[in-house]
This record gives sequence, C-alpha cells and structure tokens, in this order.
Amino acid sequence: MNSLFTIRNLSVDVINDLLSSARVYKNLIESGLQVPEIPKHTVGLLFFENSTRTRVSFEQAANYLGYKCINFSGSGSSMKKGETLKDTILTLKHERLEAVVMRHEASGACNLAAKYFEGPVINAGDGRHEHPTQALADALTILDRKGKIKGLKVAIVGDVTNSRVARSNAWLLSKLGAEVRFVGPRTLVPGQSSTLPATVYHDLRSGLIDTDVVMALRLQRERMDNGVVSVSEFRRLYQVNRGSLRACAPDAIVMHPGPLNRGVEIDDLTADGPSSTINEQVTNGIYVRMAALAWAFENVPAKAGSLK
Ligand code: NCD
Repeated sequence: MNSLFTIRNLSVDVINDLLSSARVYKNLIESGLQVPEIPKHTVGLLFFENSTRTRVSFEQAANYLGYKCINFSGSGSSMKKGETLKDTILTLKHERLEAVVMRHEASGACNLAAKYFEGPVINAGDGRHEHPTQALADALTILDRKGKIKGLKVAIVGDVTNSRVARSNAWLLSKLGAEVRFVGPRTLVPGQSSTLPATVYHDLRSGLIDTDVVMALRLQRERMDNGVVSVSEFRRLYQVNRGSLRACAPDAIVMHPGPLNRGVEIDDLTADGPSSTINEQVTNGIYVRMAALAWAFENVPAKAGSLK
C-alpha cells in the first residue's frame, strides 16, 4: 500500500506512472467507457480546512472507481470536544476505514496521521507544505495543452510563501524538466536561499518574459499575518491580465488552482479567456485523484505508455 505525502519525495517514475494512470482514466471516462472492476475500498475524506474542488473531486474519483467514501469535517467532529488528532485517527482506523484523504492546517499532519492509521494516507493539502494531487492535476493539464513539460518555462505568480500548490508544482515541474520561476513581492516569495527548485523574480514583467505557462495564486490570508500586503498594490504590480501577459510566449496558457479572487490576482477577461485552463484543471483533478486512490491500494490500470 502507498501513501502520498509530497511530490518532493516521489520519484520521476512514480510521477509518470500516476500521470499515465490518470490519462487512462480520463480517456475511459471521457469516451463513456466503464472503469475496469477493481477491489472496492472504503475511504475517509477528512477535511479540517475549507475545500470545494479538492473534496468534491476526491469523492467523484472514488465514485468512478467504485470505492465508498465517508466524509468527516473537523468542525462537526469530536475534535471540537477536545479530542486530539491522534485519537481521531485511531478512531477512524477502528471504524475500519481503509485509507484516508486528509487536509489539515498543519504542515506534516498527514505523516502524523499515517503513523497511527497504519494504512494509506493521501495529502489533500497540509498547511503551507504540499498539495501533491493539485500539482498532478496541473501537470496533466499542461500535458493536454502543450504535449510536454520538459523545457517549458513556468511562472508561478503571487502568494508563493503561503502556497502548498506552489511548492508541489515547483517540485513536480522541475523534476519533469521545466524551468520554474516564482514571481511576487519580497513579502510573498521566499528568498533565493530557499531550497525550492525555482528562480525568484520580484518584477512581474521580468518573471513572465518568454514563459509558456503562468500560474496565478490567490492571497492566502488565512495563513498570512495582517498587513503583509496591500491588495491594491498587489493588484497593480502583480495581477495576471492582458497587459502583463504581453511579456509571455504568444501561446502561453494561464492556470489557477482556485479558488479565484477575481480582480485581484487575475482579471475576468483572462480567467474566462481562451488561454485559461482553470476549468480543465478542475476536471483533471478527478482523474489524478482516481490514479492516486487506485495507486494507494496498488490497483494500477494498464499503462498508457510514456508521457515524455
Ligand atoms: C488551493 C489550496 O487549498 O491550497 N486550493 C485548491 O486545493 N485548489 C489553493 C488556495 O486555497 O488558494
């Protein structure tokens, strides 16, 4: 059985296998074909932080695989009566759940959960740390639009410091051979000394020059100290819009993991325009989560061949 905590610790082979599996599921479902029968499992969806697309797509992925889902939200649980995460996880293990998908505000919470759960745990976002299935969904979307990842220039723009999406994408895209840039103000982008595989730019135009992919990020105020950033200044200096996109390659695509704060990190015309992949990222989220859930139980579908 496999747990998925980070992209950082995944090998390129496993990343490619997960993307190949996701492609197999995507082709099956979008051609109206049946997903092959695999053993059924019961999966807990544990969301201690708000979520729309990640939670729904894990549930949809489980539906397509024929797995059963049990939903658990931190706010409606006995954790509100003082129960610890350890005791909560032990309870869920003895409720005979076979895997858990977990979102939590603390970095590393999934590793702690796995210690007590003793079965597969899939990270659905842990604090500022990682969000591996979002990066897989983004990679599948780039492959759909560009046919490759190797050699692309990718700018991740905005609140990188507070973004687990930025971290997982930096690991994944650099492992697959892209050049990754982090673009944003000094208060929102970790300095050059960071161990992340990305080059830092504080000027939007310089960071976007010749890029093939631009990924806009929301200001994640729930993880930010007050006063770190002025919204009007951020909008003026870092908004992804028709003007700022002039620096990119002419066929650049614009990505966003959602949720969007329209008119702040991205304008309406760009979010709804032909270069935007926002809705494709949501749909691809289902297929990569199918791949991750099946892989957790070592039910890997027939390979789709190399994606490289
Ligand atoms: C992201 C997250 O939760 O990290 N959302 C998502 O899962 N698509 C990004 C965000 O909250 O801004």
